[in-house]
Amino acid sequence: MFFFIIGLATIAFIIFRILEEIYKCLQPFPNIYAKYGQNCWAVVTGATDGIGKGYCQVLAQQNVNICMIIRNEEKAKNLIQELSNGSRSQFKIIVADFNKSLEEGFFDKIYKQIENLDIGLLINNVGVSHLAPLEKYNDNELREIITVNCFPIVFLTKKIIPKMLQRKKSAIINLSSFAGRVPMPYNQTYAASKAFDDFFSRSIALEYSNIDILAHRPMYVTTPMTNFKKGQGAISPIQAAKGALQRLGLEYSTHGHILHRIQGFFGAVVVPTFIRNKILKKEIRKLVKKNL
Ligand SMILES: NC(=O)c1ccc[n+]([C@@H]2O[C@H](COP(=O)([O-])OP(=O)(O)OC[C@H]3O[C@@H](n4cnc5c(N)ncnc54)[C@H](OP(=O)(O)O)[C@@H]3O)[C@@H](O)[C@H]2O)c1
Repeated sequence: MFFFIIGLATIAFIIFRILEEIYKCLQPFPNIYAKYGQNCWAVVTGATDGIGKGYCQVLAQQNVNICMIIRNEEKAKNLIQELSNGSRSQFKIIVADFNKSLEEGFFDKIYKQIENLDIGLLINNVGVSHLAPLEKYNDNELREIITVNCFPIVFLTKKIIPKMLQRKKSAIINLSSFAGRVPMPYNQTYAASKAFDDFFSRSIALEYSNIDILAHRPMYVTTPMTNFKKGQGAISPIQAAKGALQRLGLEYSTHGHILHRIQGFFGAVVVPTFIRNKILKKEIRKLVKKNL
């Protein structure tokens, strides 16, 4: 009887999770203005390349106003020119090097430039990664990973949240990674920083009920950070951005795109840990050898 009840409960749980997943998949792609306020602004960090650029491309298609916090103004101007083609979005550029996040007043200076915007969406995307056995990193690389990947997400969110609390509904997407879910050899500090982003995001999601907060944990995306190509199982930055935006308000964390959700489920849940660790060590060591 005991095993019968346990079996029944397990089957009921699996059916519930499948139905829940189907329900989420069937939800329409959100209209940002309808959901988070007409003519509101999206603030995107690290917007000039990779996934940040992908988010901007998707948002510009919906004519959402975009404020880019970036370090290369020329690159941002070129991107705005590209995005303006066929879009009614307004754009604003704020130049900031997040590697200087620890400087006194760094986030105050940024905030002064955005405090008059009606911010409906914040995308904490900026991030850096390096691959090497720990002892081979130079200290500046390690400092950069911790500074750029951890400080902006906390302090920018803290600055912007009071404004969001005065709004009816807002949203925050924080870029974590599959690497924030499972340990990554040779990418240890990055993985730890992404676990930080993931936990920070999921924790504040429980604090604020009128803000949809989502930790986006992509697997491989074809960006300058990874140098992966589409045929290697990676998806495009636009696909990654669309995958996460579709889950906004439905859950607190997601791998985003369907391919990444399947890879994430098998990688983190189904495959036994010792096999996953062996595969990761072998595959990432190949990348390290290529980089050294
Ligand atoms: N790519 C993936 O497969 C993957 C997977 C999981 C998670 N992620 C996460 O997704 C986010 C974006 O990754 P990505 O692959 O798109 O990276 P990326 O292609 O290297 O682009 C990073 C963006 O951040 C900017 N940036 C870097 N350092 C900065 C600094 N100190 N100050 C200001 N801006 C800076 C870059 O500016 P420039 O244009 O000037 O270089 C660029 O716009 C990261 O948080 C990463 O951890 C990526």
